Amino acid sequence: MNRFDNRVVLVTGAASGIGQAAAVRLAEEGGKIYCTDINEAALNDAVAAIKKSGGEATARKLDISSESDVNACVQECIATYGKLDAVVNMAGILRFDNCHELALADWQRVLDVNLTGTFLLCKAVLPELLKTKGNIVNAASTASLSGLPWGTAYGATKGAVLAMTRTIAVEYAKRGVRANCVCPGDISTNMAANVSFPEDADFDLLARISSLTGPKEPKVVAGVIAMLASEDGAHVTGEHIRVDGGTLS
Ligand SMILES: NC(=O)c1ccc[n+]([C@@H]2O[C@H](COP(=O)([O-])OP(=O)(O)OC[C@H]3O[C@@H](n4cnc5c(N)ncnc54)[C@H](O)[C@@H]3O)[C@@H](O)[C@H]2O)c1
Repeated sequence: MNRFDNRVVLVTGAASGIGQAAAVRLAEEGGKIYCTDINEAALNDAVAAIKKSGGEATARKLDISSESDVNACVQECIATYGKLDAVVNMAGILRFDNCHELALADWQRVLDVNLTGTFLLCKAVLPELLKTKGNIVNAASTASLSGLPWGTAYGATKGAVLAMTRTIAVEYAKRGVRANCVCPGDISTNMAANVSFPEDADFDLLARISSLTGPKEPKVVAGVIAMLASEDGAHVTGEHIRVDGGTLS
């Protein structure tokens, strides 16, 4: 499929996991991918791999929690490729704490990256997406839809990302811009591998976030992102799609 021929897509979180898999998939489908991440070394490796496979991609270090960095990045993307057709917002962080032990600074950092960062990106790209009749795919989560044990801050951000995405979808639908979410669950990435649990964690609660079919590779989410961001998703907006192996079915 070449659904992204002549299309420019900005991907956040492109150095790892779902964002990286989305960048690979969209490049395979012919897109010009503006890849961003706070982890510059891993980002450069990810972009080198896309180019080695014959794809078109650019690496640009970005901290999505910084408004000035986000705004400069979006302008540089448009200057590099001449336009912007879609944005895939996958950058995010996860931490697990008992709610009563969650430090305010840690709560705030999760909000800054997952929620404010997603807002800043959406705000910065919308003027260009209005010109190209483009679209946004944001990273929500099964935690947007059901309780995630130890995820007070994370769940709050993911619920809010879903609500914000629906709001943008409604506000801009008549002007030709779409906005959707993916809600992944049980995807094997660095985020899932590196999270640490509270000392007294009740692991029986993990069943709530385990899929029925076992963990899956990030590419299973990338295919859904590609559908939503392409013309195959032309009549889909304000929607969320769970990619969770039946966790919440
Ligand atoms: N893995 C899962 O099962 C799962 C489930 C639900 C939702 N998600 C969501 O999917 C998205 C991708 O997660 P993943 O599992 O691929 O994780 P990941 O850790 O593999 O990738 C996240 C990327 O975001 C980048 N990042 C972190 N802070 C940043 C910042 N301030 N600015 C720019 N980049 C930053 C990281 O460097 C990393 O490359 C996240 O938003 C996550 O919350 C993942």
